Amino acid sequence: MMIRVLNLWKKFDDLEVLRGCNLEIKENETFVIIGRSGSGKSVFLKLLVDLLRLDEGGIYIEGEEITKLNKDGLHDMRMKFGLVFQGSALFDSLNIYENVSFGLIEHTDLNADLIQERVTQCLELVGLRGVESKMPAELSGGMRKRVAIARAIVLNPRIILYDEPTAGLDPVGATSINNLIKRLKNEINATSIVVTHDMNSAYFIADRIGMLYDGKIIQIGTPQEIKSSINPIVKQFVSGDFAGPIKV
Ligand SMILES: Nc1ncnc2c1ncn2[C@@H]1O[C@H](COP(=O)(O)OP(=O)(O)OP(=O)(O)O)[C@@H](O)[C@H]1O
Ligand SMILES: [Mg+2]
Repeated sequence: MMIRVLNLWKKFDDLEVLRGCNLEIKENETFVIIGRSGSGKSVFLKLLVDLLRLDEGGIYIEGEEITKLNKDGLHDMRMKFGLVFQGSALFDSLNIYENVSFGLIEHTDLNADLIQERVTQCLELVGLRGVESKMPAELSGGMRKRVAIARAIVLNPRIILYDEPTAGLDPVGATSINNLIKRLKNEINATSIVVTHDMNSAYFIADRIGMLYDGKIIQIGTPQEIKSSINPIVKQFVSGDFAGPIKV
């Protein structure tokens, strides 16, 4: 099992966000987490990479319990992940080349030529060419999202976490990001966890979908199983009643 989450609890003061959450994610699958705004999806992703510390329970990444890791172990564990944050969270004052090469400079000894080669390769993987010297503000939302994905894959992660990758994009932009997520799965052999409100996107990219509600994953199934769920909460969510932020 790539990721195993056992009886995970996380609260902020009195707010219990996760209340005994269990989940297993297999190697190379694309697992989509759905749930209402505020249900704890982003918190869940942050717990996986120890950007937030869990209160109780266990998170195992390839068999290793993350709270038991020392500093080096934690660093190695984080290097297994590529993160595409909610919003694109590019460094606004750095150009695209600097954004994508950042992790390579920080975490590898590659020389300038090899760094350049890898940056070009990652930008091409996400369908971008010739944008290296542009600033993030000069690109469209969809292109910025692609840059964020290029940045996330530059160190060859085993697991990619995408937090709302299609939020704020128009339908055409969203479709092309969905296609990219699907294509990358095959081209780089990573396990992907995608948080989204967008059911069309979930059905299209997921191997399995899990719904987070009341601090737990209340149902897991294939897109077809979730589509035809008889669980009233899942049913209501997928029919759009809880579709989250208003899409424009
Ligand atoms: N660092 C924090 N300190 C205090 N409360 C927090 C913190 N991070 C998240 N929360 C709270 O935890 C709850 C879950 O937040 P989270 O961001 O995970 O929701 P979400 O499911 O990702 O929502 P959205 O779909 O809107 O992104 C929210 O009520 C949020 O206000
Ligand atoms: Mg969120």
